[in-house]
Amino acid sequence: MNFKIKSFSEYESECNRASDNPEGFWSSIADHYSWQQKWDQVLDWNFTEPNVKWFLNGKLNITENCIDRHLAERADKTAILWESNFPDRDSEAITYQQLHYKVAKAANGLKSLGVKKGDRVCLYMPMIPELAIAVLACARIGAIHSVVFAGFSAQALADRINDATCNIVITSDGLYRGAKTVALKAIVDLALEQCTCVKSVLVKKCTSDPVAWEGGRDYWWDELMDQQSASCPAEQMDSEDPLFILYTSGSTGKPKGVVHTCGGYMVYAGYSFANVFQYDEEDVYWCTADIGWITGHTYIVYGPLLNGATTMMFEGVPTWPDGGRFWEIVEKHKVNQFYTAPTAIRALMTCGEEVVNRSNLSSLKVIGTVGEPINHEAWEWYKRVVGDNKVPIVDTWWQTETGGIMISGLGGHSPQKATFAGYPLPGIQPCLVTPEGKEITENGVEGLLCIKHPWPSIIRTTYGDHERCRVTYFSSFEGMYFTGDGARRDENGMYRIIGRVDDVINVSGHRFGTAEIENAINETDFIVESAVVGYPHDIKGQGIYAYVICDKPISDFDQARKDITAMVVQEIGPIAKPDKIQFVVGLPKTRSGKIMRRILRKVAEGEPDKLGDTSTLLDPAVVEDIVKGAH
Ligand code: WTA
Repeated sequence: MNFKIKSFSEYESECNRASDNPEGFWSSIADHYSWQQKWDQVLDWNFTEPNVKWFLNGKLNITENCIDRHLAERADKTAILWESNFPDRDSEAITYQQLHYKVAKAANGLKSLGVKKGDRVCLYMPMIPELAIAVLACARIGAIHSVVFAGFSAQALADRINDATCNIVITSDGLYRGAKTVALKAIVDLALEQCTCVKSVLVKKCTSDPVAWEGGRDYWWDELMDQQSASCPAEQMDSEDPLFILYTSGSTGKPKGVVHTCGGYMVYAGYSFANVFQYDEEDVYWCTADIGWITGHTYIVYGPLLNGATTMMFEGVPTWPDGGRFWEIVEKHKVNQFYTAPTAIRALMTCGEEVVNRSNLSSLKVIGTVGEPINHEAWEWYKRVVGDNKVPIVDTWWQTETGGIMISGLGGHSPQKATFAGYPLPGIQPCLVTPEGKEITENGVEGLLCIKHPWPSIIRTTYGDHERCRVTYFSSFEGMYFTGDGARRDENGMYRIIGRVDDVINVSGHRFGTAEIENAINETDFIVESAVVGYPHDIKGQGIYAYVICDKPISDFDQARKDITAMVVQEIGPIAKPDKIQFVVGLPKTRSGKIMRRILRKVAEGEPDKLGDTSTLLDPAVVEDIVKGAH
């Protein structure tokens, strides 16, 4: 698709074209894709309900754009390049032709199990090619995929399956993650004790470890695929039919299912990929995220395949067998674009430069980062050690809700400034507002980051609860989408994301609501109440600091900490384990009973001398105890 911007001046003129006439601009971008029927209206929107529709009455199937349309020119080009967890195992290259065949078989396999357009399919899988194939197979037949990261617990999985009333789960016997194996099928079996909606479980063999089997419900992936035809016509989808649901955490309540739709998501995923990564036809592109997160959806599967790219999938972890693994893979496959998270960069920094220098990284043309603010030290190290001081860094700011990258450099075309994401993509209209909702128009300021105009891949709703979508994103500031982030805009209009201003914490690039972790902790039988805050953590960005009140004096603190941690692992998963647990007798509350998290944050940050005004507290003495007992 020929919509790649080739210079900064072209970027500027595209921005002008988009702001002068957003609908004309996006329709010219959408024209690059193949549609079964053209839209009759580009956009219909208001941010009050909210109601956003793009490319109205357009008909398409995203998989025809990801696969079929490349067969004429790229049938034998590698679409998915898979690298195993084990360095000595062979990689796997799946061409566009083979992908076409595998997706058709998987789509027919799903149909044979009764899956229809509009049904929800839960994917709880390792980073193996079948995960991407299953995603595309759902899209092929118009089923809505809901991928759940395979690090979540049985309880978290059950919650997500029930919320979306999925009738099928696709999983594997187990998975490899570095030196560990995880028995995924057993976790699914446990989750399904709570899910009456699930009628079938499709299991890909991965570790070959023994699994329990429920006849009539469980099917082996390979056996089912063997029986299928390799041709499956693409279901005709409306632009606004849902493509997928992806659960993400907010300030309150349980994680919510962010819904993206077929047309707009496709247009923005392909456009943003081509421009941010400046992908060229022969390049090998690698995003190290997991497909369980939005980054994997948009920038491992859809964005690259829409552009006919070679996209790499890696099953393992950056630090196993040692901290050189990423760099060995870059050398082995001559990776041209490499996209990872600050937490991985910080972890790999601790392994030393010599580990990086063992590998030849001269193939790199663009290196990217996503998921959390990148600190100065990590940015400089990435630039110098990985990028040899010459490869441009794209610091890409976006969210599950935005569907694609919103603020970022475009390869090497944009000005670079350490820790700054930079300028918005054409057609994106960010702004900063005061807490009172007044837009700040000058530069050299900080404010709350909002977006003023819809873009094609904006969240459409939260599954099953549209009101929640309205309240969370569209009610804080009238006529604007509120991101939940604070940002700084420098004198030149470049943006630097400061971080969340709500009760969401970002741990190793994973989003958690503090309330979600508190609810898990409170399930422990001896816990009366808890409060969770984030604090700066050298590797994870933010660590989880939990203040807990017990129903009786504790004699064995180590055991109590273990019990609390085990409960969080059971309720959410190991990724949400608290880093610090402090036992307290009370929490700082206002007279109306609200916890003053500001105080807890300051103590957790190790700045008890900066508590500010505590005069509105019900019992200021509580604070002294907390400060004394802090870690
Ligand atoms: C944060 C991940 C600073 C931010 C794609 C946002 C970032 C949240 C950046 C979304 C970045 C993401 N710089 N912060 N480049 N990218 N964030 O939904 O706080 O998992 O609101 O999407 O991550 O996280 P999510």
